[in-house]
Amino acid sequence: MSAMYEVTNSKGFQGLLMQAETAKHSILIVEDETGPRDALAMILRPFFTLYTADNAHAALRILKKERIDLVTLDLKLPDRQGMDLLQEIKLEREDVEVIIITGYGSLKSAMDGIRYGAAVYLLKPFNVAELIALIQQTLEKKDRLDYLRNFLKSPGDKWGTESDAGATWKLLQNQYRSLAQTKWGPDQRFAAYSELAPLLSDLMQARDRELFYHAGRVSDYSDLLGKRLNLTEAERNVLAFGAFLHDIGKVVTEDRLLSKSGKLDPGGQELLKHHPEIGARMIRPLKLPAEASQIISYHHEWYDGSGYPDGLQGHGIPLFARIVCLTQEFDHLMTDHHAHTPLSLEEAVAEVRRQAGTRFDPALAEMFARVVIETKASLPPMGTPSRRTATPEP
Ligand SMILES: [Fe+2]
Repeated sequence: MSAMYEVTNSKGFQGLLMQAETAKHSILIVEDETGPRDALAMILRPFFTLYTADNAHAALRILKKERIDLVTLDLKLPDRQGMDLLQEIKLEREDVEVIIITGYGSLKSAMDGIRYGAAVYLLKPFNVAELIALIQQTLEKKDRLDYLRNFLKSPGDKWGTESDAGATWKLLQNQYRSLAQTKWGPDQRFAAYSELAPLLSDLMQARDRELFYHAGRVSDYSDLLGKRLNLTEAERNVLAFGAFLHDIGKVVTEDRLLSKSGKLDPGGQELLKHHPEIGARMIRPLKLPAEASQIISYHHEWYDGSGYPDGLQGHGIPLFARIVCLTQEFDHLMTDHHAHTPLSLEEAVAEVRRQAGTRFDPALAEMFARVVIETKASLPPMGTPSRRTATPEP
């Protein structure tokens, strides 16, 4: 896993001290063993308002009562699986960040924890500087996401017209510069968009974690197909970025339209159909390459002409939009399957082939089916973030 972007102002103890002076964050340490719990508490007490719990029940009680920003979570607890507790925390309070601290024996579960919204995991034994840096990065990310969450909830038509959208991006970009000093991480594919990408990525994450994870995986799948099509590196970069943004319009749709728990009623389905148009309007002032906006506008057009919004047909649908039409549906089949049981890779590939010529460009569908089967082992594990959008690994 690589960091999508990394924080450059990792100031160590000094930085943490400065941060602590400006806003004292609250940390809850959940750890059943006295020794490690006391050691952690001793390290962190000078910088944070600190709470400790030695079991899941006590942790939840504190979380309900106090304003907690971050939880350090040991996965082995006496009264409950740490993973269950993580899910409950994220369900109740999506904005609480969780750092899993675990031994090598639980590495697999720690990695699963990322899927349930943990920011990062740290393997024992760890050194103090490493822990401090991770906490600092995670809290900085939380501050950015909190700002964006509040912004999204505040009243007003932020992207209602093109001029609203222009003003909104200007405001966010200015605000964002003062919130976080970020630089683009090891992945160079979005390097051309290094100024915008962290904001757009955080915006999706602030709106809905699954929306953000989906975006990352669809970007990876699209790149896989782009490579197979022998696209140039520059073309592949635009494809990967456009694919990442394909559902950006959902950032401003109602909560119920994002819900994975059940099928949408016909009214909801109609409303949802506006997201390509909304997304295209949102990003117009950002002057992204035309191919990226075409992905946003046309990723729900069907090869046979029965898609939306314009009923485009065959090669009348731009190539990159035909690619993302396929890759985004493949990811849905493998993860939420439109509120049905997710399909296995083989079943999803069969479904892609079944819809070749109706929904999907038949040549692309066959090519994608083959490349997915060939590269099966290196695909992002389902339901997890893409390698590109994953949070930093210790
Ligand atoms: Fe979509």
